[in-house]
Amino acid sequence: DPSEIGVPMDLEKLLTDRLAPAFSTVAGVPVDPVVRRSQRADFQSDAALALARRIGRPPRAIATEVLERAQVADLCSATEVSGPGFINLTVAERALGGLVSALATDPRLGVPVSAHPETVVVDYSAPNVAKEMHVGHLPSTVIGDAAARLLEWLGHRVVRANHLGDWGTPFGMLIEHLADVGEAEAAQELSMGDLDSFYKAARTKFDADEAFRERSRLRVVALQGGDERTLRLWRLLVERSERYFLAVYDLLDVTLTGRDFHGESSYNDLLGPVVAELDRLGLLRESDGASCVFPPNSVGRDGEPLPLIVRKSDGGYGYPATDLAAIRHRTGELGATRLLYVVGSPQRRHFEMVYAVAELAGWLVPPARAEHVGFGSILGADGRMLRSRAGESVKLVALLDEAVARATQLARSRNPELGEAEAAEVGRAVGIGAIKYADLSTDRHRDHVLDWERMLSLDGNTAPYLQYAYSRIRSIFRRAGVTARPDAGISLAEPAERALAFELVGFGAVVSEVERSLEFHHLAGYLHRLATAFSAFYERCPVLRADEPVRDSRLVLCDLTARVLRQGLHLLGIRTPERM
Ligand code: ARG
Repeated sequence: DPSEIGVPMDLEKLLTDRLAPAFSTVAGVPVDPVVRRSQRADFQSDAALALARRIGRPPRAIATEVLERAQVADLCSATEVSGPGFINLTVAERALGGLVSALATDPRLGVPVSAHPETVVVDYSAPNVAKEMHVGHLPSTVIGDAAARLLEWLGHRVVRANHLGDWGTPFGMLIEHLADVGEAEAAQELSMGDLDSFYKAARTKFDADEAFRERSRLRVVALQGGDERTLRLWRLLVERSERYFLAVYDLLDVTLTGRDFHGESSYNDLLGPVVAELDRLGLLRESDGASCVFPPNSVGRDGEPLPLIVRKSDGGYGYPATDLAAIRHRTGELGATRLLYVVGSPQRRHFEMVYAVAELAGWLVPPARAEHVGFGSILGADGRMLRSRAGESVKLVALLDEAVARATQLARSRNPELGEAEAAEVGRAVGIGAIKYADLSTDRHRDHVLDWERMLSLDGNTAPYLQYAYSRIRSIFRRAGVTARPDAGISLAEPAERALAFELVGFGAVVSEVERSLEFHHLAGYLHRLATAFSAFYERCPVLRADEPVRDSRLVLCDLTARVLRQGLHLLGIRTPERM
């Protein structure tokens, strides 16, 4: 059923496919026509200019001959060679209208299911047990979830891997503190979500009390040795923390569930075999008593080779060994070919080294590949790392609660007709949406400033602006009691209608670009352009008051805009209330 698979609806690509053969004939070699949206016409190709030198002919002559040969009559109402040799293309209203009609009957809105579905592991969120989630975990959680949603929608098999920090030396002191406090007491304390005070109490004792330090050290040994009581206490910590994280994910509308926890501890049994295999492959070198691999791509500032330590001098395994075991598991057992690591940019170096070692060991070979989906920090209004008044990192729940409270208040004042329950629901959708969108709409490689005014504003490139555009369209249909007829003929006589149509048919191209780049600000920017084009259209073109057949055509444009906004925001993990 083609409607389940979706129809590719990429005008740029359609035009490229028509110009490419003509260019190649003229040039005698394959040529990419580089078709782009343009101010001068609808689309433009500048390829003749670059080609001129290569084949020694004037660019205008090339462009003219290309246009004589290219079969574009069904797509373009006008073509011309302009300036030094640009090709300008004006899309025919019929062709554009035909694409809009195809979109209207396509449940996938012009976004086909991938022709090459893969198993993709998305490693994201990954907080640490018995520690509060803070703002630093927000980008990983939000970007990772958008990646999982988008790739899944494109038909990939997505494995969500929440690489929980649930193992290592800090657990000695945490378990020892837990034993001191008593299981029942501690369970109580931890279920209130006050993970940080528990952690700090343990830390304070550890720093001040020599005997406690010694007990903690022995506790680590007991934990690694599989001591039953120790494991029970450890499980209590993990289980309470997981419950807390799930509550945060729920508040954040993040799709991670209890089944997606694949903590560091789950790789314990694989660490020995991983290091043994590295040894067998002759990749291990001893350095200061530790077992290391020296990947070819890593040198320090002084040109010295940098080691990846896979077994420490005390015989313990650490973070790098766990990540190697995870790669081997993901490609070997899960059959994944795309491994995504949505982790802050400070860990870039770590991952480069881990990938390089995994490649040497044969655990990461084409078509399998790994990508570090890095991101910058969230800054406060002062341009520094966001901190609480006490100078600590800001708890994620505190931030989310504030967002929801602010947005609920705004919802009440903007629309007094909303009942209390609906205002609360809108406040939640808008507050959480605003926080997520602020992360997703900026280039993830950069730091960005958390600015409440800006991100909650109904103007500009914000979630509330897009949500408002959506609810406004829905209210047109609700108030008039009409629905759009997907089979209506499409008329695009007004420039504002044409401009909106071009945005609508561009959804597929944007989604497939983001599938590759995981740069969600391109999708956000697209949705913003779409909503802006809709506003201009709605200002200039009456919908309900228009005569048929224009009225039906405009209703289709309205409905499609709402559907694309809704789907696009859904991929970003943002809700679209029907009323605001
Ligand atoms: N728990 C780690 C941290 O808080 C992040 C883990 C990222 N994922 C991984 N596979 N190493 O820094």
